[in-house]
Amino acid sequence: MIQDPFKPAKRVAGQRQDVWSIVNEAAAAYNQEHGAGSVVNMGQGFFGYNPPEFVLDAARDALGKVDCNQYSPTKGRPRLKKAIAEAYTPFFGRTINPDTEVTITTGANEGMLSAFMAFLEQGDEVIVFEPFFDQYISNIEMPGGVPVYVPLHPPPNGATQTTSAGEWTLDMAELEKAITDKTRMLVLNTPHNPIGKVFTRAELQAIGDLCVKHNIIILSDEVYDRLYYVPFTRAATLSPEIAKLTLTVGSGGKNFYCTGWRVGWLVGPEPLIKYVSAAHTRICYSSVSPLQEATAVAFEQAEAHGFWEESKKEMKGKMDRFNAIWDELGLPYSDPQGGYFVLVNLAKVKLPEDYEFPAHVASRPRDFKLSWFFIKELGIAAIPPTEFFTEGNAHIVEDWLRFAVCKEDEVLDKAKERLRGLKKYIQ
Ligand SMILES: Cc1ncc(COP(=O)(O)O)c(C=O)c1O
Repeated sequence: MIQDPFKPAKRVAGQRQDVWSIVNEAAAAYNQEHGAGSVVNMGQGFFGYNPPEFVLDAARDALGKVDCNQYSPTKGRPRLKKAIAEAYTPFFGRTINPDTEVTITTGANEGMLSAFMAFLEQGDEVIVFEPFFDQYISNIEMPGGVPVYVPLHPPPNGATQTTSAGEWTLDMAELEKAITDKTRMLVLNTPHNPIGKVFTRAELQAIGDLCVKHNIIILSDEVYDRLYYVPFTRAATLSPEIAKLTLTVGSGGKNFYCTGWRVGWLVGPEPLIKYVSAAHTRICYSSVSPLQEATAVAFEQAEAHGFWEESKKEMKGKMDRFNAIWDELGLPYSDPQGGYFVLVNLAKVKLPEDYEFPAHVASRPRDFKLSWFFIKELGIAAIPPTEFFTEGNAHIVEDWLRFAVCKEDEVLDKAKERLRGLKKYIQ
């Protein structure tokens, strides 16, 4: 047998083809047949439009400044830390110290990796709710952590009627059972990707109290914190005891429509933040300077431009505009309470029995086949959500697909027109 001279480390040697490459492969095949750019891509959660002018202007200006083109301090540019501290202070109801309680990272993703790197030893356990943002898992495993999964359960009638994303529930007994002597951290995500659930204060309080009881650090991923359509509670505001254990994660990419800028941050008590900063320094030293500066200006000016209100209103408008098609087709969906993803239940869609799927799709749950079929036959890319579950729980969402609505209105309208082609497959 020939040995691979470049045998990869286990942490990067995934056995399965990941969801993004399968979806992109199908989309590329569609584009080859129908012309470049013809697929409507509602798969990945990137914006189909630019940040507002005042944010773009800030980036252009930053590039002209000498110090903005050089290394930033490892914990982040003082101007951005100050802007973030000022933005979070009213939410947290206490004055946040920009020097000790905020650290800037290369996107929320690297911020979370830094948090896991900071606190996990080999074999330490981290509780993650299913479905999960897929990056959590490798970020936990890289420092030797072990993810322990607790599923969120869909509403029992989710396959027959449109329900609220808030009806996905966490079984507190299941959560309590998952806690062991090795549990160090718990990852929360609200508003949630992919469900669109905004956890209620009562749900968060129950989770937070358990974490206090067992001394578990809460990593609260709140990257969609400006996009909520029901009251939104931040984990760090529940009680002083919970605040002491909570690291809140934010993302400039999600806040200001610039996911490619890779500017994120963690906010939390100094005894936690200092170790996150230490890990971040070793992972990437510091983060992109001019775009940190531009994000600082974006925060400083957002209110005056009415940006936060406008962005929420605009996204909710896109959500409602797109979801009208499901009402028209009689297909149930989980109406999001926040964020820009919607899960749609496609149990009523009957795929042709003789349809040929490639082996790597045929071997996956039904949502992968739905996703493949939607791309190849309708020209719309959406994400199969079983990818965000462990194998044992994947059946929970095998009839659902996730659509990202952070796209131009014309794109949403084109998607709706193409989705009318589903009628003949609906039973
Ligand atoms: C729940 C969640 N957390 C974190 C991220 C990553 O954010 P960033 O682009 O700032 O790394 C995403 C991106 O899709 C996400 O959906």
